[in-house]
Amino acid sequence: MRIFDTHAHLLDEQFDADREQLLVSLPSAGIAHVMEACCDEAGIDRVVALAARVPYLYGSAGVHPHSADEFRPETLDHIREALTHERMVAIGEIGLDYHYDFSPRDVQRACFDAQLALAAELHAPIIIHDREAHGDCMDLLRQYRGRLSGVMHCFSASYEIAKECIDLGLHIAFGGALTFKNATHQWEIASKLPLERLLIETDCPYMTPVPFRGTRNDPTRIIHTLLKLAELRNTDPETLSEALFENSFRAFSIR
Ligand code: NI
Repeated sequence: MRIFDTHAHLLDEQFDADREQLLVSLPSAGIAHVMEACCDEAGIDRVVALAARVPYLYGSAGVHPHSADEFRPETLDHIREALTHERMVAIGEIGLDYHYDFSPRDVQRACFDAQLALAAELHAPIIIHDREAHGDCMDLLRQYRGRLSGVMHCFSASYEIAKECIDLGLHIAFGGALTFKNATHQWEIASKLPLERLLIETDCPYMTPVPFRGTRNDPTRIIHTLLKLAELRNTDPETLSEALFENSFRAFSIR
């Protein structure tokens, strides 16, 4: 089985003690590729360096809504430069987070919009973080209709929004939350969407799937999300993982 974890934060300090061992062990554990998602400007060069030395790892560059108030016009040049490196293939994670509101909402929207414009200009896939901001997120995405590719990460909105995101050119990623007992709404969405637009991810060290909930997540635990999705879609995990693997390359325009 070949698996692409389409959203990880292996540079998080929770991996400081054993990051190297983990990186070495992933390919033999079936994790063929990982997308390392960048969160702030200070992270951009760290993701570039990680992608440069780990041959199976791809990276994104971008400013998360939590850090939107540190976003400057020059940050766009930094992202642009990062994407010239091999295996730096996406702008993310970018979006809106009205759950934590760590940055003012108007600042979050401006930061998101500026990075969407850059992605449209560069034809770069995007990794979108939308938490409790579906209305404003979709309003901004609609302005870039015809120029979008990439993924709605950790999808938490409605089936109607998922279908519209697909219509806008995006893929829909499900993570560990799909294994939670109360995720019935997500189960229905994950079972109905077209297979060719689905992805799986860990968002590690966060969003640990059942039965490991409460402990640190890592890319190997994605198997529990895969098994849940296979159950929901009444298919076998091998066939599903191969389809998701192909989808991941398409979502990030990787040849
Ligand atoms: Ni993330």
